[in-house]
Amino acid sequence: MLFLSQGPISVTSERVFTYDVERPLRAYNPATGRWSRDTAPITLLLERRRIMTPRRLTEESGAPVSDNQNSQTAGAGGPVLIQDHHLIEKLARFNRERIPERIVHARGSGAYGYFELTKDVSQWTHANFLSEVGKRTEVLVRFSTVAGGRGAPEAVRDPRGFAVKFYTEEGNYDLAGNDTPIFFIHDPLKFPDFIHSQKPDPHTNKQEPNNVWDFFSLSPEATHMFTWLFGDRGIPASYRHMNGYGSHTFQWVNAQGQGVWVKYHFKTDQGIECLTGDQPAKVAGENPESHTTDLMEAIDEGNFPSWTVNVQIMTFEEAKTYHINPFDVTKVWPHADYPLIEIGKMVLDRNPVNYFADVEQAGFDPGNFVPGIGPSPDKMLQGRLFAYGDAHRYRLGTNHTQLPVNRPHATKADNYGRDGLMRFDDNGGADKNYEPNSFGGPAQSGEPHYAGIDGGVSGTYEWDDRESDDFAQAGDLYRVMTEAERTRLIDTIAGDLSQVSKDEIIEKSLASFTAADAEYGARLRAAIEALRS
Ligand code: HEM
Repeated sequence: MLFLSQGPISVTSERVFTYDVERPLRAYNPATGRWSRDTAPITLLLERRRIMTPRRLTEESGAPVSDNQNSQTAGAGGPVLIQDHHLIEKLARFNRERIPERIVHARGSGAYGYFELTKDVSQWTHANFLSEVGKRTEVLVRFSTVAGGRGAPEAVRDPRGFAVKFYTEEGNYDLAGNDTPIFFIHDPLKFPDFIHSQKPDPHTNKQEPNNVWDFFSLSPEATHMFTWLFGDRGIPASYRHMNGYGSHTFQWVNAQGQGVWVKYHFKTDQGIECLTGDQPAKVAGENPESHTTDLMEAIDEGNFPSWTVNVQIMTFEEAKTYHINPFDVTKVWPHADYPLIEIGKMVLDRNPVNYFADVEQAGFDPGNFVPGIGPSPDKMLQGRLFAYGDAHRYRLGTNHTQLPVNRPHATKADNYGRDGLMRFDDNGGADKNYEPNSFGGPAQSGEPHYAGIDGGVSGTYEWDDRESDDFAQAGDLYRVMTEAERTRLIDTIAGDLSQVSKDEIIEKSLASFTAADAEYGARLRAAIEALRS
């Protein structure tokens, strides 16, 4: 929790709020036991400067408010009047302050910064923001946890969202990834069921190990991700101390129209730090907003977090014969086959001034590509191309793309989209609202953004499980762990799985871990038996 120490607020006869400027603002962080420097953080200084300017309180219409302390009544002790427009407007607006929280990733923090290209990648993509070494592009990053609601503690075992919005000169490019290079499932049809199994149970209204492990036991493709999540990296110490991944495979296309498949890796320059043992419970109990506090304080203190950006590149030809389905988001491309290529740096150097405007209203859409970048046939990614724009239209409204945080910053949107609830710009003015037209309206470029995706006739097909194996990479991950890491992994899974009431769920889960590695399965069985005896 961040406590603000501030000078006394005085109310003068002109009803002007003033701060005691002699006394600096300081922030106390119980998680670290530290007071911030005497100088107030930049965002608070800005706020204080704003507050120092005498300002007149008005109604939403702009008319001055004469009394903000006493509501109007019929006589000194009489009932409150409906003619008190200010009171009614104030109460009604307050009732409507909450918007729906995100269906997943509800709890998050954001910051602005920049991405700088450090390597010539023109052989692979003609994306404008990747066109020149040294070129900088403004970014907004929103970090999040997945399963908890908007007020949930942050130091919990859960993947972390790592969503980046690049404000490029050719439009906004959104890369909404996680801190894991892989995911639980590989078909979007399973996503609502998966999330239901992680979120509060319809009867008990709390997360239930039965549901979590039931879903797992019936979804062997999740073995790799569960091994990751229940390992040490399952609880990052902060948003600054974790990597980010695009996770899916994407398409890059160069100026000659030749495409390659690409995966993104954002490696933290702060180093990986995780919470293990009883640390997370302690941190979450003492400071539920531990990640938010850490990020905000670091940036306010000028300690800007950064990530080195790398890619893996696979040719279209290689993808056809590679022994792993390259579009399966439950699998990695082993670095031995596809080494990391460093291409840039991402730095976060600016805290949002207003959380709601900059972070809560931010909408990331995996369908927001720019010329030179496109989707792959990864089925999960394809499902997400629909889901996010739809979620924003529900959560933020039809015109969410005009909100300051979501509209293009380095170019301008120019199209024939009009009207809709809460349109708050000039709505295209007097321009024609159809295309083609003969009045100089915006016209299509005629340039394909990316190469087409090979495919067949429409229909449902068996998953392309070319290596027919959900377990090998989970086993590989287990075997690269040190003995201490393995012990913690076994303890964590056993602690959770032993609470499951149905033996059948436990047996099926053990079968998946055993298929990954016989020792992994055997140790888990012994640990669960010990806990349940
Ligand atoms: C078919 C599978 C998936 C579906 C249908 C889905 C759907 C959603 C929805 C509806 C939201 C809330 C959006 C909002 O209201 O603003 C969301 C948020 C998010 N999802 Fe997914 N998701 C899927 C898979 C994934 C995967 C595989 C990743 C990571 C690799 C991911 C990363 C994120 C992130 C980072 C956010 C938060 C974005 C933000 O900070 O605003 N999701 N997802």
